[in-house]
This record gives sequence, structure tokens and C-alpha cells, in this order.
Amino acid sequence: MAFTPDDAVDTQALLKTGFDDLYCCYLLLRIADVGRARAWLRSQGSGVTRFSQIGGGKRLTHARQMAFTAAGLRALRIADDLVEQFAPEFVVGLAEDPSRSRRLGDTGANDPANWAWGSGAREPHVLLAVFDESEQIRSMAEVLAKEARAAGFWEPQILDSGDMGDREPFGFVDGASQPAIDWKTERTPGSDADMAFHNLIATGEFLLGYANEYGLYTDRPLLNASAPGAASLPAAEDEPAMRDLGRNGSYLVFRQLHQDVRGFWRWLQRASDGDPAAVSLSEAMVGRHIDGEPFAALGQTDIPGIRNKPGVARNDFTYMSDRSGQVCPIGAHIRRANPRTGDYPTGRTGLIKKLLMLFGLTGSAEEDRIASARFHRILRRGREYGRWLDRHDAVKPDAPDPQSGLHFLCLNANPARQFEFVQGAWMASAKFAGMSNEQDPLLGNRAPFPGTQPNDRFTRPAVDGPCLVSSSLPQFVTVVGGAYFFLPGLRALDWLLADR
Ligand code: HEM
Repeated sequence: MAFTPDDAVDTQALLKTGFDDLYCCYLLLRIADVGRARAWLRSQGSGVTRFSQIGGGKRLTHARQMAFTAAGLRALRIADDLVEQFAPEFVVGLAEDPSRSRRLGDTGANDPANWAWGSGAREPHVLLAVFDESEQIRSMAEVLAKEARAAGFWEPQILDSGDMGDREPFGFVDGASQPAIDWKTERTPGSDADMAFHNLIATGEFLLGYANEYGLYTDRPLLNASAPGAASLPAAEDEPAMRDLGRNGSYLVFRQLHQDVRGFWRWLQRASDGDPAAVSLSEAMVGRHIDGEPFAALGQTDIPGIRNKPGVARNDFTYMSDRSGQVCPIGAHIRRANPRTGDYPTGRTGLIKKLLMLFGLTGSAEEDRIASARFHRILRRGREYGRWLDRHDAVKPDAPDPQSGLHFLCLNANPARQFEFVQGAWMASAKFAGMSNEQDPLLGNRAPFPGTQPNDRFTRPAVDGPCLVSSSLPQFVTVVGGAYFFLPGLRALDWLLADR
């Protein structure tokens, strides 16, 4: 069923907007006294901004969003058997499983043991995201933190965001490409149209309680209609006798990523003998020009879900006519993050291809690995933090450390299949699309696997000659905190915060 106006009232606004025109602070809270903390959260919960409040010509001047870790749900005394019905990776937590950490590249300098927040006793219970038009956002967050301390929480942690316009700290325009959500259920996932890349993605990939790209409903906590308070929750679409605690909720992945802006531009200068080659190399690593324009030819195909607005960095391209990466390197950040492939590996299409695929007679493991981008999309809602340092200043010997980076936030309904797949198989893995010993050029931790060479290369296929290989890439981005949160629907939020 499509997303209705009632659902819009029940959904947190972050699904629709990143509040880019408002300042932002994140409060990380740990519950000390559950009774008082719950009452305070209830008082804050009534101010949580809804999807339905966005648009319609009205500009919001402030907003709040609220989310919980699994540890937070337990601290609120939500029954274990209910918590266990959430996605396993959320239940265990981002930082609490060494095997997950290894897959995500959270080893070495990225090891959760080194994080400023998010692991062990530093795992927050509640995330309160505060947005406001006033530059005094920090003092507002401090007032809230003081209130929270007096209302049953341990000392809250405040994470500031910066304001670098539409840029991230390395200097690139960010936020140019996002999936479009199929709110009206215009598409039927699994049809022949999925053989080509499209950007219109099933609602159930981002919100629980709706059909996903498999046409199925992602597992989530369902309650018996007779359970206390359950009558106030929506009925589950796929199991109408049950009440849906997940509906209109989403998983919010939060990773604090420190960016070494000085190290980035200094390495680029050394690796390429100065400007303009340094800029070209950095653009090849990202896969877009600094101003957000893509390398790929625009408008070759009509891509469902991509509408180009004049003046906005454009997004209507695929890599179909650039399969060897001569225009945009295969290992570039945006090509790893979203290889823009359809349901089947590239090449021959139609019935014959389908039959060959069915009997396993075509397609390599590498191709399979990057096919079907539609199952691995994420809705990014991140914010930069720290001070702006221009690339020209960054290379000066006395350049200050801007202490900057990205509060990387993304929403998805199945973190293992979406965020973790993108981060683990496409970013952190040293084998991608036939290449080896190279990870994502921006994000890689460069850690060698035991007995192998360092994973510190970046390859650019050239039109008329051998590939250009840059080597000895240092680590530019370090994970310094993070957690998996559940961003509930508004009715679910009331249920979670009710006294019991
Ligand atoms: C400090 C870390 C990061 C930096 C500096 C960075 C930078 C960028 C830039 C400049 C773009 C191009 C603009 C755009 O399309 O929005 C981009 C796109 C993107 N990034 Fe990142 N990013 C970072 C971390 C991540 C992480 C951790 C992920 C996911 C695990 C990710 C996923 C994506 C995706 C999905 C796109 C859009 C690709 C497309 O659809 O073409 N990024 N990023």
C-alpha cells in the first residue's frame, strides 16, 4: 500500500529532508533513571517534527528528531523478546561485534576501542537531533543537555555541526545524488524495467512496514493486538491481525568520520606534482568534479526517479557507456557507493540473457557483485563538522588543524543489506569489480590483509595507454564514533515512551 497522509503525520521528517537550511547539534544521551528520563523524553517527543510538516510553502525555523539504540530500548525497559525482533545488526550494535568491525573496515585507527563515543559504556541510548535557524544552536543544545542531566540522564554529549554550505571538508559539493522514494508505489519491483538502472526505490527500502525491492516486508517487531497499548499502533500490512511497531520507522546509521584535510591535499600535491593535476586526481578519486558535476555524459537515457533541476548538480547518468572506467574510474568513491547497475550484470539483455543467467551460464562473480544496485541504496542525511580549511591553505606548512569531518548519517530499512553492504563490500573491501589491493580512495583504512600487500592503490584506466596507478595512499578518513539507531514512527515513539 502507498504512503498515505496519515503515514506522513506518523513519520519523522528526516525521511523527507536533511534540514539543510537549519543549524544542527546532536545530543547523545544515556539513561540513568528510567522513570524520570522517560518522562523527559515524552516532553521532548511532542516536539518531534513530522514528515507532514515539511513543504507546502512553509519554512520551518526549528525541528527535532529522536532515535534510540537497542541499548536505549533496553534501558527504557522494552521487553527483550521485542527488542530481539529488530534487525540483528541493530540489536548487537555497530561497535560490539569484532567480525562486523572487520567487515566494515573498523580496524586499526578505526577500531571502536579508540572511538570518542559509541562503544561499550560510551554507547548512547538516545539521539536527539536539534535543528534551528539560530546560530546560537550550541547554547540551545547546552540548555537541553542541562535539562536532561537534571531529568535522569548521565552527562550528555553534544556533537556540533559546521556550516560549509553545500561542501564537505575536502571541498567537494556533497548531497548531489540521492535515491527517490516511490511513495506512490508507481513501480513494480522485479519487472523487466529493473534490468536497467533506475533511481526510484521502493518505500520499504527506507521505511519499515512497506514492501521493499523484493516485494517483501522487512522483519520488524509486531505485537499482538491485545498487548498493552498496542491498539494505538497501526495494523501490520502483511499480518493484519498484528500491530506494527516498526511502521514508519527507519534505521539511522550514524558514523563520525574525521577527515584529514591537510593530509589529503598534501598527499595529492606530492602524488601529482601540484595543481592542476592534484585537483584532477582528487576529482577522479571522488568521481565528480569539485563543483559536483559528474564526468559521465548526461542525459543518455531516461532514468526513472531522476529529475534534473536547472542549477543543481546533475545526476542523470549511468556507467553503461563507460564500462572500463575511462571516463569515471571504477574505483572512484561515487562509483563504488552506487555502481548504477540494473538487475543483471551489464552486457547482453533480453530473454536470452535471462535464460543464460538463470542457468548460471553467464556473468562473473565480480559482475554479480556490483549488479542490482537497487538493493543497496541508502538515504544520506549527514552533516559536516569542524572548521573550513581551503585546499590552498591546507598545503601550507603552518596550516591549522581544522578538526573537521562528516557526521555521516544514513537511513535504511535493512542496515546489513544496505549500509553494511555498501561500506563493507564496496568501500572497505580490497577486491572490487576485478580490482585488487585498492579500497575506496577516500574512506579506505589501507590495512593489508595478513600476508598480502597493502591496500593503498588507486587505479585510473586511461583511454590510450596503460592504467595510471597512484600508490601509497595514506588513510584520509578515520572513524571516531558511531552507533545504529532506530528512528521510530510517531505512534511507535509514544508507545516506546509510555509508562509501563
Ligand atoms: C568523510 C567521508 C565521506 C566523504 C568526504 C564523502 C564524499 C562524497 C562526495 C563528495 C560525494 C559526491 C556528491 C554526491 O553525489 O552526493 C559522495 C557521494 C556518495 N557517497 Fe560519500 N563521502 C563520505 C562517506 C561516505 C560513506 C561512509 C558512504 C556509505 C557507506 C558514502 C556513500 C555515498 C553515496 C551512496 C554517494 C552517492 C553516489 C551516487 O549515487 O552516485 N559516502 N560522497
